[in-house]
Amino acid sequence: MGGLLKSSVAKKFAMALSGLFLVLFLAQHFTINLTSVISPDTFNEISHFMGTNFVVQAILQPILIFGVVFHFIMGFVLEIQNRNARAKSYVSYNGSANSSWMSRNMIYSGAVVLAFLGLHFYDFWVPELAHKYIESHPEDATRYYGELVSKFVSPVRTGLYVVSFVFLMLHLLHGFSSSFQSMGVNNKYSEGIRKFTVGYAIIIPLGFIFIAAFHYFNNL
Ligand code: HEM
Repeated sequence: MGGLLKSSVAKKFAMALSGLFLVLFLAQHFTINLTSVISPDTFNEISHFMGTNFVVQAILQPILIFGVVFHFIMGFVLEIQNRNARAKSYVSYNGSANSSWMSRNMIYSGAVVLAFLGLHFYDFWVPELAHKYIESHPEDATRYYGELVSKFVSPVRTGLYVVSFVFLMLHLLHGFSSSFQSMGVNNKYSEGIRKFTVGYAIIIPLGFIFIAAFHYFNNL
């Protein structure tokens, strides 16, 4: 039992750490995408830099992909472990009495975000890989803005993005604030940290919704 608890604490810690890393990625991803609303030239410049810089492509991108896959696999492992623990528990599991709806449904909100990532990779990453490594094109550092905007012509796709961002919000509302608890942070700053995480969990997904909606309406 002690061993199981220990390993489950370690798993939660690893889950929290990978989640915090993804939260950092989201902040930079949001900032870069926000420039597409403010200045297409700036968006093109940053995208070109990110797409051609050796450190970003050969080191940071593989770390990011590892972080996403790790978080997803650990989430599944923890969910199964929690379900088994609940099934065996002598004290009946009390559902809504001792946990929030969001905390009990992390696996589902996470699954929607994962499905979104599938669509998102299909939209942006697959064409980018094809452009770079399969097709042959003359160098064009101004292509990124047009490629992004073309993805928000369809109301269905824009709608799917918006719904996914609402699920991202639900996922972050519980995940980001509980990550500090999972890492054992419990001090006079805890309440301030909790408020910051709630603010982040609401503002960043709303910001992504704004970007998607902006390009959709701008395309009309
Ligand atoms: C309106 C919202 C969003 C827009 C316009 C957008 C745009 C983009 C673009 C243009 C790329 C391609 C970068 C490249 O060329 O490699 C990309 C990649 C990516 N996006 Fe988004 N994104 C949005 C929201 C999100 C969200 C909410 C997530 C996570 C939940 C996310 C996760 C990723 C990941 C993991 C990649 C691959 C990163 C990489 O290039 O290595 N995106 N996105």
